Amino acid sequence: MQELLTTLESLSLESGLKYLSEHYGKVVFSSSFGQEDQVITDAIFRNNFNISVFTLDTGRLFQESYELMDSTKTKYNKTFETYFPNTAKVEALVKEKGFNSFYFSVENRKECCFIRKIEPLKRALTGAEVWITGLRSEQSENRADMKMVEWDEGNKVIKVNPLIHWNYEQVLDYLKVNRVPDNPLHRKGFISIGCQPCTRAIQEGENPRAGRWWWEASQKECGLHS
Ligand code: ADX
Ligand code: SF4
Repeated sequence: MQELLTTLESLSLESGLKYLSEHYGKVVFSSSFGQEDQVITDAIFRNNFNISVFTLDTGRLFQESYELMDSTKTKYNKTFETYFPNTAKVEALVKEKGFNSFYFSVENRKECCFIRKIEPLKRALTGAEVWITGLRSEQSENRADMKMVEWDEGNKVIKVNPLIHWNYEQVLDYLKVNRVPDNPLHRKGFISIGCQPCTRAIQEGENPRAGRWWWEASQKECGLHS
């Protein structure tokens, strides 16, 4: 792990992705079509790296996010895998607790995230040796200590966060210079975008993740990265 960390820390984004695609078996990248994810997607698709891109469609995303998924696919003429929640589990959840159970308790919210994201993630990572994400340490306290390369014991996979040291300006610069499409909601106060019912726009000066699960006092995480 330390050797890979040292190697990747010395390489550019593109060289690092190339290195991973050439030295490991199955390498996958999870995209929520956020701005960081669009940077990595651009680097993978433009260079035709042997890295498969997947997204977790919770069924509760913004229409703008679905439009971006389609326009990204068209721009690069590439495909990505979409993982949906287990039908029976969603049906049982909605039958028992209704459509908006996440607002009523943290347990309910975590249950919904587990069904709609965590379980599908486990399926998406099956057989993968490396899992690439768009995490940045600046995003939250919880992410501040994350490294570019980590062992994910829960998923038994090498987790690589190539943008971990990037700041937001670098992300925006990359998108601009490379003319990468992003979500128009970013211009309407949404910085970190997840599911529609669980994301609101932020006010100036607020933490970028303040709009995620805004009614909860702490823990702005869904469990994908804990
Ligand atoms: S979250 O845990 O709060 O939802 P965030 O939105 O900050 O995560 O995204 C961080 C990284 O998690 C993304 O760069 C991406 O790699 C992964 N991720 C988050 N949500 C999804 C999703 N719906 N589909 C695929 N990957 C996702
Ligand atoms: Fe459910 Fe909200 Fe989690 Fe999406 S973010 S999976 S709607 S609780």
